[in-house]
Amino acid sequence: MCRLCPLHAQRTNAVPGEGHPDTEVVFVGEGPGFNEDQQGRPFVGAAGGLLNELLRAIGWKREEVFITNVVKCRPPGNRDPEPAEIAACAPYLRRQLEVLDPAIVVTLGRHSLGTFMPGARISAAHGTQRPVDPTTGAPNALAYAMYHPAAALRQYSLRETMLDDMAGIPAALLESRARRSEPVGELPVDPVAEQAAGVIETVEVVDAVELETVLAGVATTPEQVDDDQMQLFG
Ligand code: URA
Repeated sequence: MCRLCPLHAQRTNAVPGEGHPDTEVVFVGEGPGFNEDQQGRPFVGAAGGLLNELLRAIGWKREEVFITNVVKCRPPGNRDPEPAEIAACAPYLRRQLEVLDPAIVVTLGRHSLGTFMPGARISAAHGTQRPVDPTTGAPNALAYAMYHPAAALRQYSLRETMLDDMAGIPAALLESRARRSEPVGELPVDPVAEQAAGVIETVEVVDAVELETVLAGVATTPEQVDDDQMQLFG
């Protein structure tokens, strides 16, 4: 059992994440809630229902993307994850991103935003993209910022905003694909990301066995992929 942070003490299940191992799109939320802790799967409660709806709105299914969180164990009472807990869990997320090598990392909520767009404010950043610092684990990705679905459950007017932001993801994916096909060394430099490079904290100690467990989620395959609808693999 991972004991890198205090969250292990009260968890029922760790929630590593799940999705398509060959996807180009990774959604990163904050941390498991009650239902996720019970089932060991991410975004299976009310916020997950809304996330599924948002994906359907652009013709995607959750089995075609990968869904995970910045912390893999539930913060008691669904409190916000502490910076030290996010830092302790970062090696797991980093390894997942190294393996998946996504074109787009969609951040859901403030804590995920803080990892992939350090210094950005969600009210200004939502619906925008920025190159991801490779020290996060994603070698060549754009981060695309969104509000957390739970925020739209609390505040109905945010649903429209989230639908609009979701509708921007396919264009961001096309932009990222274009960047990724450019020869290495000719990528436009993003000064904000460059500056942030030193800010991302690294945790060197990773329990290899635990990492295997986390990566088990990466091997999850969808039951069926509908090729007609699939703009991700199309
Ligand atoms: N909220 C999150 O941030 N992640 C989940 O997995 C569920 C709810």
